[in-house]
Amino acid sequence: MTEMDTLKAELLACVAAATDLAALEAVRLDALGKKGRISVQLKTLGGLEPELRKQTGQALNLVKDEVAEAISMRQTELEADALSAQLAKERVDISLPVQPPLAGGIHPLSRTMEEIAAIFADMGFSIAEGPDIETDFYNFTALNIPPEHPARQEHDTFYLRPDETGVRPVLRTHTSPVQIRTMQQVKPPIRIIVPGRTYRSDHDATHSPMFHQCEGLVIGKDIHMGHLKGCLIDFCRAFFGVDDLPVRFRPSFFPFTEPSAEVDIGCRRVDGKLEIGTGDDWLEILGSGMVHPRVIENCGLDPDQVQGFAFGMGIERLAMLKYGIPDLRTFYDSDLRWLRHYGFMPIDVPALHTGLDEGV
Ligand code: DAH
Repeated sequence: MTEMDTLKAELLACVAAATDLAALEAVRLDALGKKGRISVQLKTLGGLEPELRKQTGQALNLVKDEVAEAISMRQTELEADALSAQLAKERVDISLPVQPPLAGGIHPLSRTMEEIAAIFADMGFSIAEGPDIETDFYNFTALNIPPEHPARQEHDTFYLRPDETGVRPVLRTHTSPVQIRTMQQVKPPIRIIVPGRTYRSDHDATHSPMFHQCEGLVIGKDIHMGHLKGCLIDFCRAFFGVDDLPVRFRPSFFPFTEPSAEVDIGCRRVDGKLEIGTGDDWLEILGSGMVHPRVIENCGLDPDQVQGFAFGMGIERLAMLKYGIPDLRTFYDSDLRWLRHYGFMPIDVPALHTGLDEGV
């Protein structure tokens, strides 16, 4: 075997033995680089006899070409191997079960408010809001609760520091002041609900110093008690999801309505558990009445021209009844396990932004 054949065999063996691209590059430099074994030999050609130079030169160039060709082929092979290895490593196993999506929920009170709003939106009501800090006028006087009225004591009002005129603002004890604010601002027909925070100095398993109410007000030319009854019966049946839910109107008293009625729904208690919709027991769920003419007058409207009805309900109480939540205080504990247990999703409230349609 000639020296040339040995060199070729050695270099081709090295090429075949290179197991990755870096090793192959090292082989290339060792053979064909500036100081590589073939390059060094090529440089010695100048010192040879012309005939020998020609022969040796041709043979060396053949070796060079063969080695270069072998390197190029090996490179293609190694690149394909590297790509397959990478693809295998990055392969997604689509047979694995997906991770369950982590979805947030909404608070049962928010959910209940959305349900109430959706039902009234369907009946053409829009939403009105008012401030949590109220004046004595809006919270009491305009609602026909004058200063000496006993209802003031019943409300356990939180009073704030007096302003510069000596008047003490209050944290609103109910959402009813928004009736007054709306009648002062909007010409009848009016059809609104007012969901919002309310405050009373009271704290036990069924009372919280901050709680929520939803007020309702309908004012127009010919609104009568029949409208009140129809509207509230429909609401109760839709809210509790019982089509033939018994609903009873019981005479009552509120300073801002005349006549006034409390609304009860049919229920029964089985082994201490409440069942809504059947039985011969009754459960009070909201207050209502025809708006007192004096209240209409206090808003600058003429009670001989317009009249209407109003109602007010406690949102915590409705949520507790509907979802079987036994303790009111859990609403405000911010306990994630409790919130996940109820796991409520928001609902769409479709018609709320369109507000009133024609007439009432
Ligand atoms: N404001 C009353 C309360 O907080 C609830 C209420 C009763 C509101 C009758 C009304 C109504 O609008 O007509 O207890």
